[in-house]
Amino acid sequence: KTTLETLSGAPVLTGFWNTQKSSQAEGTQPAFGTHHIDTARWADLILVAPATAHFIAKAANGFADDLLTTEILAFQGPVLIVPAMNPAMYSHPAVQENIKRLLKYGTRFLGPTSGKTACGEEGLGRMIEPEAILELVASSFFKRPNGRKVVITLGPTRSSMDPVRYISNRSSGLMGASLCWAALQAGYRVKAICGPSQAPLPMVEGIEIVRVQTAREMAEATLEAWPTADVYIGAAAVLDWEIKNPSLEKLKKEQGMPLIEFEKNPDILSLVSQSKRSNQFVLGFAAETENALPNAKLKLNQKKCDAIFVNDVSKSTSGFESNFNSGWWLDSKEEIVSYNVLPKTELARNIISKIPLLESGSHLPN
Ligand code: C5P
Repeated sequence: KTTLETLSGAPVLTGFWNTQKSSQAEGTQPAFGTHHIDTARWADLILVAPATAHFIAKAANGFADDLLTTEILAFQGPVLIVPAMNPAMYSHPAVQENIKRLLKYGTRFLGPTSGKTACGEEGLGRMIEPEAILELVASSFFKRPNGRKVVITLGPTRSSMDPVRYISNRSSGLMGASLCWAALQAGYRVKAICGPSQAPLPMVEGIEIVRVQTAREMAEATLEAWPTADVYIGAAAVLDWEIKNPSLEKLKKEQGMPLIEFEKNPDILSLVSQSKRSNQFVLGFAAETENALPNAKLKLNQKKCDAIFVNDVSKSTSGFESNFNSGWWLDSKEEIVSYNVLPKTELARNIISKIPLLESGSHLPN
């Protein structure tokens, strides 16, 4: 308690009836009285991180036997829960039912993610990273819906050699995930078509996430969603080539060096641009290691999109696997805007704000 009070400079409440005056900071919540009412009126948001299976069960069933659960009942704003538990516990139907019930009440969940949990086991149950939690908190203050839908492709794609091996690339999906956040914050409804990536995607109302592995799957999902969307953002690092002859069985080294044949993958960005209506906007991404701007100009014309964001992935301070990025926005009106190194979350907000709000076609059926 003292540590948290010292670090935050704010009082930490642990019980119903707090009689400690010492830690009351000026302008913060009241230290006396009926906290479950006072604090619930004072707060803009409740965040529970990490949240145990036990807490989720109590919240789902309307318990009010401690300060936190009581607070949640008395609170009328957004409640965010960040689960962290053993993977077997998380997948238990009782926990899943409790989560469903809370979702029905409007509670939002972020995570868990797959990985090592505190008990040493691996699986879906690990708490999402603190940075992602921060983002979610920020996202809770979303703008009003703007009536527009955006399809965002992100992450890498994979092509299988055999049942255990694949080729892929170093895309982390972080830029795409940041764009999803920024689009939601700006009021868009988002369809995220995501290749195999661990990037923390928003789990909030307004986003639908489709998980894919291959470029072909990504192309299919995108082309299906595109006719009823207003904006397409191609932030995925799609493999240009697919292994044509994957082995059905694991390749053995005794069989000698495998002869891999490739075939060209569909260029999703070009296909989307080809079927673009005048009230739709297409933004592509380009990762370059040299001559970034001239190459991006070429790509903008070749792929016939409305804008390209190009970044130089040869720099260690930005691009793949980094939380930072820099680059240039260039569009078909020949506007060029240069962005210095920024956190991907902030850059994403800048990029989203550059997309024009054209007349909406989202009234078309889903
Ligand atoms: O041609 P290049 O891969 O450099 O172009 C990058 C842009 O094209 C990105 O927006 C990427 O998502 C998109 N792309 C695609 N389908 C491919 C390859 C790239 O949509 N097969």
